[in-house]
Amino acid sequence: MKKIVILISGRGSNMQALLSAGLPCQITAVISNRADAQGLETARQHGIATRAIPHCDYTDRASFDMALAAAIDSYQPDFVVLAGFMRILTEQFVNRYHGRLINIHPSLLPAYAGMHTHERALQDGVKIHGCTVHFVTPDLDLGPVIIQAAVPVLYNDTAQMLSERVLKQEHIIYPQAIRWLCEGKVMLNAEKKSVFNGAEIASPALIAPHME
Ligand code: GAR
Repeated sequence: MKKIVILISGRGSNMQALLSAGLPCQITAVISNRADAQGLETARQHGIATRAIPHCDYTDRASFDMALAAAIDSYQPDFVVLAGFMRILTEQFVNRYHGRLINIHPSLLPAYAGMHTHERALQDGVKIHGCTVHFVTPDLDLGPVIIQAAVPVLYNDTAQMLSERVLKQEHIIYPQAIRWLCEGKVMLNAEKKSVFNGAEIASPALIAPHME
């Protein structure tokens, strides 16, 4: 059975979705860069090993990433799953887990990489927004896409309302993506593209605003 380590920084609702999904893998540890991350307590309640590696204990990104990698490697995971892990990772770290490092981002990448995705989508007046699961490459938030979910942006939406609508979809697509990975149905090829082999993808068109 494949082994995964999950990295979080806060609430951990995506981690919770992964823990509850009955995935065909062993979640061997949850690691946070914040000792007070709410998700660490949730993981403990599920009987999962937890570690806190506070980034502020390190003088630079490289030394933090080295400590993080040492902790991750002690669990010998097949995949490292970022679930609301809010640290920019060094190129060395990303390359160390090439094809095995996965992230979820609250936008339809490549639109709205970075922070404050919901606010920026509202400001731009887009009608469709969403979330993306992707392989991590050294380009921030721009690695090959595994799965995306789109939601409509509704008239009078606030960033909070939109983020809740998107988060609901995150909790659906992240377990799906990790399931495919663990079953060997999706992988990163030599051309740095996501390749699907036997993964079933339902693809109804989503058009917004709604058409009568
Ligand atoms: C999620 O919306 C996730 O997509 C986002 O942080 C939130 C974490 O929530 N991640 C990023 O913005 C990464 N660039 P959670 O802790 O409840 O899963």
